[in-house]
Amino acid sequence: MPSRFDTRINRHHTGSIKWDLFGEDVLPLWVADMDFESPEPLLRALHRRVDHGVFGYQFGAPALAEVLAQRMETRYGWTIQPQDVIFLPNLVSALNFSCLAYAGPGEGVLMQTPVYPPFLSAPLNAGRQVVTSDLLVREQGNVLRYEIDFVAFEAAITPQTRAFILCNPHNPVGRVWTRSELQRMADICLRHNLTIISDEIHCDLLLDSVQHIPIASLSPEVAAITITLMAPSKTFNVPTLGLGFAIAQNKDLRDRFEKVTNGFLPHPGAMGFTAATAAYTECQAWLDELLPYLKENRDTVMDFVTENFPSQVRLTCPEGTYLMWLDLRGLNLPQAPSKFLLETAKVGLNDGADFGEAGKGFVRLNLGAPRSQLIEALERMQAAFAAL
Ligand SMILES: Cc1ncc(COP(=O)(O)O)c(C=O)c1O
Repeated sequence: MPSRFDTRINRHHTGSIKWDLFGEDVLPLWVADMDFESPEPLLRALHRRVDHGVFGYQFGAPALAEVLAQRMETRYGWTIQPQDVIFLPNLVSALNFSCLAYAGPGEGVLMQTPVYPPFLSAPLNAGRQVVTSDLLVREQGNVLRYEIDFVAFEAAITPQTRAFILCNPHNPVGRVWTRSELQRMADICLRHNLTIISDEIHCDLLLDSVQHIPIASLSPEVAAITITLMAPSKTFNVPTLGLGFAIAQNKDLRDRFEKVTNGFLPHPGAMGFTAATAAYTECQAWLDELLPYLKENRDTVMDFVTENFPSQVRLTCPEGTYLMWLDLRGLNLPQAPSKFLLETAKVGLNDGADFGEAGKGFVRLNLGAPRSQLIEALERMQAAFAAL
């Protein structure tokens, strides 16, 4: 049975950075948006909002805050109040402002590498220091599984370290951290008085029967030191509609965030509120179709790489996100791997070096594409490797 996600949509010249950065001969599998149409109920809600025709100021959305509080309760057993929610135009700005809010000038912000590049720049943008701890990687055949090096994690913390930016599920390594991993990280943060900035933007994108656990839901003690960042943008493919949200149950954390953002961070727009409300109230059926499709894309890539790529290539089997992480170091490529694949295979991928030192020699591949497009890109990569 063909799937709605099999349809290849021409995104050239639609303002898409993914498709327009490179030439038309390139298949792009890089930046984290999907080549899929958003859910119909969300599109209908946007049409209705446009048809109303008046776009006056909107500061906040109490009904949406209620929906989010309910969602946290039903999905995670996490009880929050609508007033704990702060609406945001996006999450990268919130990462930057969180560094300003929760660390002082020159103080350190910890993160686990390899990691989504804006994590690495956020402390620097705010005049704070980047503190990194590499994730551990275990190899099982050609499959890489990342874990936390708790000794290195705690050893990286100095008296000047003030905050930890957690990525859960983790971009780019695709881990959905378990309760015990989260508890151990939280215990270390509590012991060293670190604020946890928990980026959970990929929380709905679960490919296996794993459970997403918001770190703040572990206990009131952990909630008291945590600001959680979420958005409908990855799940429902609406990043340019500009809506995310933070949840901070500790009023002091909310006040410190509001103090640094006031007048600097714009309110989300009407289309963002409209899309988010529809996404969280009317689009579960679409998401229930998306996840198996992404999972099958993941398995297709795993099989293809195992059968057709040189045996030195290693890759993750992501439990969450639609991002895959390929280790090409064993190929001794003549150029940075993303450059090699762009020039030789005409496939656009993210270069691992942008994700920190621990990412050098890797590429990140986006599974959020029609399967035929993914296979075409893999065949191009196979031919490029065969010609080495
Ligand atoms: C972990 C993570 N946080 C944040 C973002 C971007 O969020 P936004 O578009 O809301 O700035 C991404 C996008 O790929 C991401 O992977």
